[in-house]
Amino acid sequence: MNILVTGALGQLGSEIRAAVRAMGPTEDHYIFSDVASVPGEDILPLDITNSEAVGIICRSEKVDVIVNCAAYTDVEKAESDLDFADLINHRAVGNLAKTAAQTGATLIHISTDYVFDGEGYKPYTEEDAPAPLSAYAVTKFAGEKAIQKSGCRYIIIRSAWLYSTHGRNFVKTMLSLTASRDSIRVVCDQIGTPTCATGLAALIVKIISERLTDRTGIYNYTDEGVASWYDFAHEINVYAGHGCNVQPCLSVDYPTKARRPHYSVLDKSKVKRTFGVDIPHWTQPLKNCIDILKNEE
Ligand SMILES: NC(=O)c1ccc[n+]([C@@H]2O[C@H](COP(=O)([O-])OP(=O)(O)OC[C@H]3O[C@@H](n4cnc5c(N)ncnc54)[C@H](OP(=O)(O)O)[C@@H]3O)[C@@H](O)[C@H]2O)c1
Repeated sequence: MNILVTGALGQLGSEIRAAVRAMGPTEDHYIFSDVASVPGEDILPLDITNSEAVGIICRSEKVDVIVNCAAYTDVEKAESDLDFADLINHRAVGNLAKTAAQTGATLIHISTDYVFDGEGYKPYTEEDAPAPLSAYAVTKFAGEKAIQKSGCRYIIIRSAWLYSTHGRNFVKTMLSLTASRDSIRVVCDQIGTPTCATGLAALIVKIISERLTDRTGIYNYTDEGVASWYDFAHEINVYAGHGCNVQPCLSVDYPTKARRPHYSVLDKSKVKRTFGVDIPHWTQPLKNCIDILKNEE
């Protein structure tokens, strides 16, 4: 099969590249792309907002699966940059889906726990009704709907609180803050699940390798367990061996432009049942990630 991965230089895209490299020789042909290439990396420049370029690549390379890791992911900035966020997270995704529908490709796309308003108190299933609170979340939900409307075969995976050894993320920010400050305050009233992009990448590669791409639908995938951002920061501080005093605070004490759900834990029964994945508790991959980052220092 021919697989086009967009946004391949981001956190998830980098983990998919690593997973494919680790697999060794395979009959599958992966084409990794991002909005701009970088020296030393085999990355095809492809802007997903350029629907003509997407169509040309999908047809000329006979792409069977598009894995869309490209996104506008700056939740705060999206509040004042709605049109650009919508272009990438919604309209370009709709065009990817239309191309997939025309060429017969499957679209694997990543969405977010932020499509929910967080007023719930038990893990959200794929059947629960989204009610996005922020501009970012509105554009991501619109992207989901555009895919479903396009008539293509699709797998939409809603994930959450992603981090990795690549790119910028909460783990790296907290490692730096807990190393340089005596004390920090982190919100304790937003509850979700920290998720290492390695596991999500492994799921996507498994779906492709085991030819499970016909299982159209929406799936939740995060690591197991439940945490607040405070718990997450606390564990990072402990694992890293930093002596920072990590204190809880409330969201009202830490005002942000974007509203975020208070509770966005996702129920993973469907993804486990359908694809037979074992999901680790969030603390284990976090420990591995910190070990790798510490070794790189
Ligand atoms: N990060 C999270 O906590 C989180 C949580 C839930 C769901 N998700 C979803 O998971 C997916 C992967 O997230 P991530 O954390 O890996 O994101 P990321 O690290 O921000 O990577 C996104 C990649 O897409 C690229 N990109 C941006 N605009 C593009 C365009 N027009 N054409 C092609 N590529 C473009 C970015 O390039 P530049 O960096 O140059 O812009 C970047 O390399 C996204 O769909 C995101 O919404 C993320």
